[in-house]
Amino acid sequence: MKNIKAIIFDAYGTLFDVNSAAEKCKDKIGSKWESFANYWRTTQLEYTWLRSLMKRHKDFWQITEDSLDKSMKAFNVDPSMRSELLDLYKILSPFKEVPEVLKTLKEKKLKLAILSNGTPTLLNELVKNNKLDNIFDDLFSIEKVGIYKPDSKVYDMPYQKYRIEKNEIAFLSANTWDVSGGGNYGYNAIWVNRNKNIFDNLDYKPNSEIKDLSELIRLI
Ligand code: LAC
Repeated sequence: MKNIKAIIFDAYGTLFDVNSAAEKCKDKIGSKWESFANYWRTTQLEYTWLRSLMKRHKDFWQITEDSLDKSMKAFNVDPSMRSELLDLYKILSPFKEVPEVLKTLKEKKLKLAILSNGTPTLLNELVKNNKLDNIFDDLFSIEKVGIYKPDSKVYDMPYQKYRIEKNEIAFLSANTWDVSGGGNYGYNAIWVNRNKNIFDNLDYKPNSEIKDLSELIRLI
């Protein structure tokens, strides 16, 4: 992977810990907080895929609210927690190695960008709140193409902008299906396998698998 000129990161689950909102409320939610957080995330993703197929788009923030409402009912979470959980979702924490790795990559003069389901406002706030706003050249949001990952129109955005070869772009995601989406599109897709998961059978196997972003430095 020595020919890489741009590195594109998925946001939720890859740079930012989607479970950190519920984790910060674990004293109030109790021991079910992690199952609840996983259910919320799974429902949120299902809604992105289903809305894309139904051609009934709602933005990622509305989907995050809708999926939270279902999850709170399913797990009997006190309705008074709703606004706190949503506020925390806007300022999700990055995984611990992320800020340092991004700074090191920035010094290497590579193009760095985020490609995400998140709205432009959500992505801007996320990077700003975590003091990462001077790192990225672009925050590509699916709102520009109006359909969610893994539609190829999403992965096409960085390629159209940078005008370099697809295999000169490294695409990193912790979401297996997103790695398959970027890889099938033609990117050098790298799987950030944070939780010792099993990879999908969707016509693409990643060239590299890393357990967190710190391993990226030796690859590029
Ligand atoms: C994103 C989701 C897939 O950031 O994690 O696009």
